[in-house]
Amino acid sequence: MSQRFQDAVVIVTGGSRGIGLAIVQRFAEEGAQVVIAAKNPARGPQVTQALRQQGARVDFIGADVTQRDQAEALIAQVIERFGSVDVLVNNAGAHEKAPFTDESEDLWLRMFRINVLGTVFPSQAAVRHMRARGRGSIVHVASKAGVVGEPGHAAYSAAKGAIIALTRAMAVELAADGIRVNAVCPGPVLTDLLQEAVPDPDQQQRLVAHAPLRRLGLPADIAGAVLFLASDESAWCTGQALSIDGGMSILL
Ligand SMILES: NC(=O)c1ccc[n+]([C@@H]2O[C@H](COP(=O)([O-])OP(=O)(O)OC[C@H]3O[C@@H](n4cnc5c(N)ncnc54)[C@H](OP(=O)(O)O)[C@@H]3O)[C@@H](O)[C@H]2O)c1
Repeated sequence: MSQRFQDAVVIVTGGSRGIGLAIVQRFAEEGAQVVIAAKNPARGPQVTQALRQQGARVDFIGADVTQRDQAEALIAQVIERFGSVDVLVNNAGAHEKAPFTDESEDLWLRMFRINVLGTVFPSQAAVRHMRARGRGSIVHVASKAGVVGEPGHAAYSAAKGAIIALTRAMAVELAADGIRVNAVCPGPVLTDLLQEAVPDPDQQQRLVAHAPLRRLGLPADIAGAVLFLASDESAWCTGQALSIDGGMSILL
C-alpha cells in the first residue's frame, strides 16, 4: 500500500459507518492521522477503538455538522490536537424519500440542512485555516441523484445537485489560495442508508439490472476515488464531480 497521506491530518465527517468508514480506513492505511466526526455518541468511539486496535491512527470527535458552532469547534479541536487540517471529506449526509407532491417543507429543510449546510459549515471553518497555510484539499460526497433525474426523492436530489454547484463555486473562489475542491457522485452503495431506502434485496438488484457494470457499489469503491481527489495525484483537478456509479449515469 502506498503512503500518499503519511502524516497528513484528514477529517471525515460521517466516518463512523458506511462510505465514510471505508474512506477512514483507506486514509489510515495510507499513513494519515484521521479524525472521524459523527453524531452518534456510542458508534463513533466504538469504531475508533476497533480501528486503533488494528494499528490505525484514528480519533473521534462528536459533532453535528448541521450546527455551525459544532462544525467550527470540530475544526478548532483538530487544529489544537494535530496542528493542521490537510484534507476535509464532507461525507455526512442523509436520505429521505417521498413522492414529489408529498415532500413537506420540513423534509426539504432537513435534506438541505444535513446535505448542504452539513457540507458548508465544516468547509467554511476548514477553509479559514487552509487559506492561512496556502494549501488544502476538500472532497464533498454528492450523489448520482444530483447528476441525473431520479424519481421519488426530489429534495435529496436537489440538495446533492446543490453540492455539485457548491463544489464548482468553492473551487473557483479558493483556487488562488491553493485549496482544491472536488466531489464524488456515488450510485447505489450497500450501506445502512441504502438498506433503509431500499430494504428489499430484489429491488436493490433491480436498481443495477441495466447498469453497465451490473452490480451495487461497495463503500471501498467510493473510498478509492475520494483518496485520488484528495491526493496530489489530482493536483491539476478542481471543481470536478466524479461519478462512481458502475456507469449508471452515462445511460440514456
Ligand atoms: N449509500 C448510497 O447508496 C449513497 C449513494 C449516493 C450518495 N451517498 C452519500 O454518501 C454519504 C454517506 O452515505 P452512507 O450510505 O455511508 O450513509 P450512512 O450509512 O447512513 O452513514 C451516514 C453517516 O453520516 C453521519 N451523519 C449523519 N448526520 C450527521 C450529522 N448531522 N452530523 C455528523 N454526522 C452525521 C452518520 O453518523 P452517526 O452514525 O453518528 O449518525 C454516519 O456516520 C452521504 O452523504 C450519502 O448521501 C450514499
